[in-house]
Amino acid sequence: MTSTLILSVETSCDESSVAIIKNGRDVLSNIVASQIDIHKEFGGVVPEVASRHHVASITHVFEEALRVANVTPADLTAVAVTEGPGLIGSLLVGINAAKAFALAHDLPVVGVHHIAGHIYSNHIVEPLQFPLLTLVVSGGHTELVLMKDHYDFEVIGETLDDAVGEAYDKVARTVGLGYPGGPKIDRLAQEGKETYDLPRVMINQDNYNFSFSGLKSAVINLIHNHKQRGEEIRNKDLACSFQNSVVDVLSHKAIKAVKEYDVKQLLVAGGVAANSGLRKRLIEEMEYIPNTKLVIPPLKYCTDNAAMIGVAGTFAFLRGDRSDMSLNGRANMDL
Ligand code: KG4
Ligand code: ZN
Repeated sequence: MTSTLILSVETSCDESSVAIIKNGRDVLSNIVASQIDIHKEFGGVVPEVASRHHVASITHVFEEALRVANVTPADLTAVAVTEGPGLIGSLLVGINAAKAFALAHDLPVVGVHHIAGHIYSNHIVEPLQFPLLTLVVSGGHTELVLMKDHYDFEVIGETLDDAVGEAYDKVARTVGLGYPGGPKIDRLAQEGKETYDLPRVMINQDNYNFSFSGLKSAVINLIHNHKQRGEEIRNKDLACSFQNSVVDVLSHKAIKAVKEYDVKQLLVAGGVAANSGLRKRLIEEMEYIPNTKLVIPPLKYCTDNAAMIGVAGTFAFLRGDRSDMSLNGRANMDL
């Protein structure tokens, strides 16, 4: 493989992140300035607030990434940046910073799909081997992606409504747990028991699609009915019941696809890949499928970060992808 040193930028939501990736796998630095504490006050990400904070922090994050990696701009091969999908005002801050940096240092720019980044975060742990399947579970996406080669993405199933992270965040808000809900429900679920009966939506359908809005509504109705009857909801047990429903459906469909497509690897990607219940279940189930290796990124590479964009960006760069100075943000974008 040609040697590469890529500076990558990710600002699609509420993390301003810049990384330096050597030869597509070595993370020399991965600086993430999180805005979680700011958005917590509002109970979710406020797009305009996110853009303003990206503007305030991005230059410093660039400097830190270069300093930690001990790299100067002259050493770099290219700049990779998240093109979409995401919050448009947030994306534009990273894209403009990346273009200005590339122009100043005469470097090529490569636009990267955010979900390609999540998928490629696994390559840091274990080199990708094809064919492979990725279970993408984030705040904005839930899909099963088949890859027969680098940068060859085939979505074989996806959510028909809410993404799984979105369902976590909405349920957490209804229960009054605040933002971000996923990790909070996960923590509670580990202390609870499955005592509430919740649906496993689409689990027995003969396809790889998902639906989480019905489950979310079932939880909201359950809370409402208990309130009307003046009964207390046990949050730990509700969290456990909700998590088990989610994990049952995700693992059932992922394992079914692993068997059908006879893949060498099953990757998990996106913020919900940090979920303890999902990780545990997949590890258990995949023991029975010894020819397919399960790869799950460490927690720091599950949620949004620039390292994953740098890894995907390296493969995009090597196959000849180049963006020019008209590169723009795309709120919606197919993989
Ligand atoms: O991939 P990500 O950082 O951002 C998007 O691209 O959407 O994913 C964020 C999502 C949020 O919905 C968050 O609640 C969820 O990932 N999440 C979790 C956990 N950690 C983060 N959901 C369930 N369990 C977790 N431990
Ligand atoms: Zn993401």
